[in-house]
Amino acid sequence: MSQMISVSEALKTLLSKETKVVVLTGAGISAESGVPTFRGEDGLWKKFRPEELATFDAFMANPELVWEWYEYRRKIIEEIKPNPAHLALVEFQNHFEEFDLITQNVDGLHNQAGSKNVVELHGNIKRNKCIRCGAQYETLEKTIKGIPPKCHCGGNIRPDVVWFGEMLPQDALNYAFKVSSDCDLFFSVGTSAVVHPAASLPLIAKRSGAYVVEVNMERTEISHVIDESLIGKAGKIMPQLVKFFM
Ligand code: OAD
Repeated sequence: MSQMISVSEALKTLLSKETKVVVLTGAGISAESGVPTFRGEDGLWKKFRPEELATFDAFMANPELVWEWYEYRRKIIEEIKPNPAHLALVEFQNHFEEFDLITQNVDGLHNQAGSKNVVELHGNIKRNKCIRCGAQYETLEKTIKGIPPKCHCGGNIRPDVVWFGEMLPQDALNYAFKVSSDCDLFFSVGTSAVVHPAASLPLIAKRSGAYVVEVNMERTEISHVIDESLIGKAGKIMPQLVKFFM
């Protein structure tokens, strides 16, 4: 039997179906599925330099390298499955009458788990788009070849993710700001909460009067301003929260 986490009475009361809930997730929620996180000892940014791999300039300077790096990350994602934390969030969506799930992750694991209307702030690694004409590719046809592949218009195809220095998709961001400033309970799960604008969402929720809870292996940048930190693995904690649903 895994040990139950200690949850405040305030949070237990808020787990009733009428509560308006927003959840923001980051790389930590996928860690137990086998997706590497970005920061921390084993984080991707310890081994790779973001400016060489995750910027538009890097892609223009070395499209083959950047494409191959994303292929490497796609291979990891192809072989993995959602974990109990992703699955618990599907139960969250079924339970709460008003619920929004916002993610910084590009791995698509929330969709794979069965979550609906996921707000993907940083794009999706499985999708691609042309840098010249903007055509979107949900999957790459077998006829499209090259590293990186070439669009029908001749432009290079890139992963449809947000790189450093790029704007987040405006509609998704506006929606995330709106629901975060109008919820009763906000969860920040598996994110170091250092990359803005996503990192400002829990703070906006807090300022707007929501009860803000983080679920993380360790305390983060926002721990001192929020209401409750649940320290441990998301795959253990999120399913335990489901048991408190009223
Ligand atoms: P980070 O790698 O910065 O943070 C992951 C967080 O998850 C850390 O705080 C870990 O302590 C925590 N963590 C690790 N394993 C966990 C587990 N099993 N359960 C719960 N928490 C766990 O990832 P993000 O915050 O998502 O952006 O990073 C934000 C953005 O920075 C990413 O979307 C990406 C990156 O650079 C772009 O590429 C634009």
